[in-house]
Amino acid sequence: MSDLQTLETEILGQISAAGDEPALESVRVAALGKKGSVSALLATLGKMAPDERKTAGAAINALKDRVAEALADRKTVLKGAALEARLAAETLDVTLPVRSGGPDAGRIHPVSKVMEELTEIFADMGFSVAEGPDIESDDYNFTKLNFPEGHPAREMHDTFFFNPGADGKRKLLRTHTSPVQVRTMLAQKPPIRVICPGRTYRIDSDATHTPQFHQVEGLVIDRTANMGNLKWVLEEFCKAFFEVKNVKMRFRPSFFPFTEPSMEVDIQCRRQGGEIRFGEGEDWLEILGCGMVHPNVLRNCGLDPEEFQGFAWGMGIDRIAMLKYGMPDLRPFFEADVRWLSHYGFRPLDFPTLAGGLSA
Ligand code: DAH
Repeated sequence: MSDLQTLETEILGQISAAGDEPALESVRVAALGKKGSVSALLATLGKMAPDERKTAGAAINALKDRVAEALADRKTVLKGAALEARLAAETLDVTLPVRSGGPDAGRIHPVSKVMEELTEIFADMGFSVAEGPDIESDDYNFTKLNFPEGHPAREMHDTFFFNPGADGKRKLLRTHTSPVQVRTMLAQKPPIRVICPGRTYRIDSDATHTPQFHQVEGLVIDRTANMGNLKWVLEEFCKAFFEVKNVKMRFRPSFFPFTEPSMEVDIQCRRQGGEIRFGEGEDWLEILGCGMVHPNVLRNCGLDPEEFQGFAWGMGIDRIAMLKYGMPDLRPFFEADVRWLSHYGFRPLDFPTLAGGLSA
């Protein structure tokens, strides 16, 4: 019997010494497991005489029960301690001040900022934002916009083409945002008033051209939209965007296949020691192309030119960002250099609003 007592003292000692659940599990296996010390004792019962077995059996089973109970108690204690330790380690003091840096350390890219500004200005005039894919069909990028097959105007766009697909047709990276005009007219009935900001692509690279750049397109279609409306919209936009009270604009005749008549627009400015000021001066700077939507384009998009008419314009976002924020070179726009971004970028929580000032 004293052997049993010794064993029990030993096992109970190991149980209370187990510091965590895995250690406790090892003690359990060593005692009650198949090859454990208590199991080994139980296995000796078979060879005993019936009388001896009766007393020894009761004693060993009682030992087994006490060990099992001690194991369960210790397990509860260890579980509780583990939870306490975890809660202590993962404590979060929500009353602590926010770490400096964080949202304040990031910067909004000038292109994103200018897109937000554009959206704000045109939303105020009742325009919504329309979008289209960067990978376009030749049909939407050119044909429906009245660039006939083989027309030299197609050559003006140095296009990135994909290899022809199973249908023999070549997809392309859109060379302008004008295909979103087509998508919008095909998808919704007039009156239409949208701007379409987005990425565009041409094979071109120097200080003021990058293979990927950004444009914003504008489109208005209804029964009466006219050049006077176009002029007003563009003037209001330029005043709001460049944050000046007055701006003189010059409309020069030009050519785009999708508009008739077509114009290029210059705005008045003064160049002074590397700086450009708008709303004053004798210089002119070209900022966009525009015109009345060509009847062929309306027809190609399922609209009757006898019933509907409209105007459109297209503008380089990177270019107007450079002009407004005085960035001399376009290439760093696409280099993701944090030093450039922290210099030219904008604070993330400064949303442009017309009421609060666009670039304030
Ligand atoms: N899509 C023209 C380009 O990328 C820009 C443009 C000119 C768009 C006149 C228009 C427009 O909507 O009316 O060169």
